[in-house]
Amino acid sequence: MTEKYPFSKGLAGVPAAETVLSFINGQEGKLYYLGIPIEEWAEHSTFEEVALALLLRRLPKKDEMKMFNAALRSARELPPEVIDFILDLPPDTHPMAALRTVVSLLEAYDYDAKLEDLEAKFRISVRLIAKFPTIVAYFDRARKGLELIPPDPTLGHAANFLYMLKGERPSDYEARVMDIALILHADHGMNASTFTAMVIASTLSDMYSAITGGVAALKGPLHGGANERVLKMLKEIGSPENAEKYILDKLAKKERIMGFGHRVYKAYDPRARILKKFAEELTKRSEFYQTAVKVEEIMIREKGAKGIFPNVDFYSGLVYNALGIDTDLFTPIFAIARVAGWTAHVLEYLEDNRIFRPRAIYKGEIDKKYIPIDER
Ligand code: ACO
Repeated sequence: MTEKYPFSKGLAGVPAAETVLSFINGQEGKLYYLGIPIEEWAEHSTFEEVALALLLRRLPKKDEMKMFNAALRSARELPPEVIDFILDLPPDTHPMAALRTVVSLLEAYDYDAKLEDLEAKFRISVRLIAKFPTIVAYFDRARKGLELIPPDPTLGHAANFLYMLKGERPSDYEARVMDIALILHADHGMNASTFTAMVIASTLSDMYSAITGGVAALKGPLHGGANERVLKMLKEIGSPENAEKYILDKLAKKERIMGFGHRVYKAYDPRARILKKFAEELTKRSEFYQTAVKVEEIMIREKGAKGIFPNVDFYSGLVYNALGIDTDLFTPIFAIARVAGWTAHVLEYLEDNRIFRPRAIYKGEIDKKYIPIDER
């Protein structure tokens, strides 16, 4: 109690690990995976390549990519017992709760989970990346009473997800938009869900436990859920003409506008810039899109000087909505992408592991007397 520790509430700004995976330059609005700007990944790469690059911590070679693609495709299906479990879940289960529970359940069907070496953890990482879209799509169809669509091994990761979800093959353009959305969400330095996964892994618990924890942390609205709220807000505003009054009223009441501001970015989030273009194309500049653009214009005018700009969540909801995806699947889609970052950070950290053990500042009294229950 007499010792003095530096204290930062919520560990804000406290470095918790070293990494080569991703770097955010918040002042200039730049994001890099493995030192390569996010714009380059979005233009030239695929989610599969980003995932393997993160797991290997370098750009993969052609034959490695071929093997990884084959491994992902062959690992997409779920064990029959797990499918039965999904079919039995109450339809009103939140999709993130379903995902979290199924990831945990998968451990029981994977012998590698009992092994402690990093090779086994790498194999599990590949399986998890492969299975996340299947879990989300199966659950969504099961809750709607629709027939499950098994994965199609001729389709890439993003296209197959849309196919399993909707039962029809997406256009090349739709598949590419989903692919880019997954690329943009694959990793983001140290954040609550990545840290949670790393804390669990640092106890030498297993990969399924760590990733279950990552999903659990992402479920919270302060982390993964803002894009759902952006869509709700845009629906409430209704048209571009209503935006000015709506936003100014909210700001006057000191309320937060969803999809704006970021703990690290104090400039335009580069991911939002990329998604804005797709939102514009997919919605064909609908009134919905124009309302969003108007909100952005007002917010930058009012709050840009304070470093408040659109974040990734502002346009991602519009993109998913235009692809015909239900609002409560937006955070699970974030998880489908981020499982690549979670597993990569866990593998990186375990190469030189140290259990996370912060301290709490004790604010209570000491040397108090125990009072028997009848005398309290
Ligand atoms: N709308 C209006 N004002 C805002 C907003 C916003 N979205 N964000 C920050 N501000 C204002 C605050 O009111 C505060 O003003 P003050 O100095 O007059 O009190 C100032 O900006 C600084 O705010 P902080 O809370 O200190 O900023 P912080 O960096 O901690 O917050 C956060 C980041 C939580 C993302 C915040 O911007 C927010 O709540 N945004 C809305 C929710 C959202 O979009 N979340 C998604 C984030 S991206 C992601 O997780 C994938």
